[in-house]
Amino acid sequence: MKKTLLSLFALLVATVSTKADEGMWTLYNLPQAVYEQMKAEGFSLTYNDLYYGDHAVKNAVVNFSGYCSGVVVSPNGLVFTNHHCGFEAIRSHSTVEHDYMLNGFYAKSYEEELPNENMFVSFMIDQQDITARMKKLGIDEVSLEKQAILIDSIQKVLNDSIKRIDKTLHVEVDPFYEGNSYYATTYQKFNDLRLVFTIPKSMGKFGGETDNWMWPRQTCDFSVFRIYADPKTNGPADYSENNVPYRPKHWAPISMEGYKEGDFSMTLGYPGSTNRYLSSYGIREMRDADNAPRAQVRGIKQEIMIRHMRADEAVRIKYDSKYAQSSNYWKNALGMNKCIDSIGIIQQKEDYERRIQAWMDKTGHFKGQLDFDQMKRDYEKSFIPSQTFTYLWESFGRTNEFCTRAFRVNYGMPLEGPENNPKKQYFVFKDNSEEWDEALDKEVFAALLKNYKEQVDTKYLPDFYKEIQTKFNNNYTAYVDYLYKKSFLMKSGKKIYPNKKSFKKDPGVQFGMQLIEAVFGLREEIKDAADAIEKQEKLLCAAKLRMEADLPHYSDANFTMRLSYGQVGGFELGGKPSGFYTTAESIVEKMKKADENVEYFAEPIMHELLSAKDFGQYTDPRSGKMQLCFLTNNDITGGNSGSPMFDGKGRLIGLAFDGNWDSLSSDINFDSRLARCIGVDIRFVIFMMDRWGQADRLLREMGLKK
Ligand code: ARG
Repeated sequence: MKKTLLSLFALLVATVSTKADEGMWTLYNLPQAVYEQMKAEGFSLTYNDLYYGDHAVKNAVVNFSGYCSGVVVSPNGLVFTNHHCGFEAIRSHSTVEHDYMLNGFYAKSYEEELPNENMFVSFMIDQQDITARMKKLGIDEVSLEKQAILIDSIQKVLNDSIKRIDKTLHVEVDPFYEGNSYYATTYQKFNDLRLVFTIPKSMGKFGGETDNWMWPRQTCDFSVFRIYADPKTNGPADYSENNVPYRPKHWAPISMEGYKEGDFSMTLGYPGSTNRYLSSYGIREMRDADNAPRAQVRGIKQEIMIRHMRADEAVRIKYDSKYAQSSNYWKNALGMNKCIDSIGIIQQKEDYERRIQAWMDKTGHFKGQLDFDQMKRDYEKSFIPSQTFTYLWESFGRTNEFCTRAFRVNYGMPLEGPENNPKKQYFVFKDNSEEWDEALDKEVFAALLKNYKEQVDTKYLPDFYKEIQTKFNNNYTAYVDYLYKKSFLMKSGKKIYPNKKSFKKDPGVQFGMQLIEAVFGLREEIKDAADAIEKQEKLLCAAKLRMEADLPHYSDANFTMRLSYGQVGGFELGGKPSGFYTTAESIVEKMKKADENVEYFAEPIMHELLSAKDFGQYTDPRSGKMQLCFLTNNDITGGNSGSPMFDGKGRLIGLAFDGNWDSLSSDINFDSRLARCIGVDIRFVIFMMDRWGQADRLLREMGLKK
């Protein structure tokens, strides 16, 4: 849709329609036609303001810990992201005694801000196209495995040279356009990231799993962190008491003016993965070999988790993030499959493939290369092993503590002890009992063992299933009890010597070994078909780019920074207009239903704050209401969570946090009538920081209070 619009642009400058604007654009090479379209829709900054110079909009946007996005909002390195992006940090600082998850947290001074292990933000410094160089090295001619090696080695060369100039920088090389292009991106990464402010989960995750992926929405999905830097250089430094708040080149100005329907809106962030170029065969595989088994296994696991979590508050704290994580893409998988069918996406793709075929027949392009029949055969070959792989990974890959340890001890776990004496080196599992619960862990494990057997072909069953049958009479619980009791894997603190004979005899080690063999077996089985599929999908993308050479095309998401632009506005929801914002009244109404659904529970203080007669400066001047969440047609996906939503002047009006149920297939096909980005209104964020948090020092820092 978008692309036709753009091609007409030259003719229709003044009358460009305000239809949905599909696309996740890289910034350094943003097509001029896209920028012109943005301008026509109300963007008032210059082309260079986006990417070039110290005050470029991009300089305020961060990759948040590799899985989310965020935005710098003050001269002292304050960062806004979503509550669900800060969730694990908040959870890890919570105990039954001081439960920041339930009660919220506000650091009243810099000293009280809480450091977080293994978290970071990174800034994109620069991006360049290195396709020519990669092609010269033969990237197009080698297998997937060798491509990965080649990419690694180039990355290393680029890193060596950038680090000679500035050792705080690093380079990542990523394929774009299905491997038809390669870009090198330079980042600066800060590891000292501290939690500054969060509201109670009742608001940060209001509506919980019930409302997740849904509109209308009232979730106040934000949390606040701060970047700390080396006191001498203002550059990245590992955590130290002596570090000081980072002074960024640029931060996003916050607008308290809001938006109206049709207003320009833009997101910048780090979308993780889309498959918009994927063939109809690939979509079928995704539906039936990825999404369906993922939803099936997680459904079983989550039922057990939630039962244990509801029974015991300590277990709830341990599993809060694990459950949310699992449930998020469980619901996504169900919703996506529903949309693939209801929208008829496979048929649409098949039609498109027929057009490509006709174009190839006519022009002779890609003749003897792109072959849809071959693609179909390769997907058929890989279908069963791919589906089995999903079952295997969803059942045993990090779903319970035992399996996690069984995998690790066999694969990639670092040894401890004297480096010069391999015989005395050992593995040791630290006591991490605050992370998991034995009864829950065992029940999940037993249920998933049983389910795996029921779902996959017997030829894929590891040998331990024979033992379960002969020695345990197919009693999975008894087998799991036996493993926990007999294996040294569950003896935290015990030194495990891989060189001793007893190592290989341990039932847990054997169990893990067999799982790994199963993984490698499946990989081997899929390898040739996967290589062939990759080549064909790459050609299909190249053919599309060639056939539509007069139009700008964006690449699929790959965790690099992207811009998406469009407008504020709703969609049709069951034949009725969805509306494009929610109000304080609507959250109070839901809160009153908390006895029907605990996920609508909120503390009395929240009822009180949101039932106010007068919201003062937080009232929207047009609607006269306090607005909470809003919709735009910005093109986002997982990874974009926490992305700043800017108005036409480049001012912050919201934080993107979700997509809508009606367009969960947008990762493979952006349907402009349905696909919406759900954001939390920045005025709701500031309202909560002000009225609930009384976080005056932070509001002053952002220039919002004197
Ligand atoms: N669906 C949103 C995302 O993927 C929010 C996920 C967290 N919320 C939740 N209720 N599990 O970014």
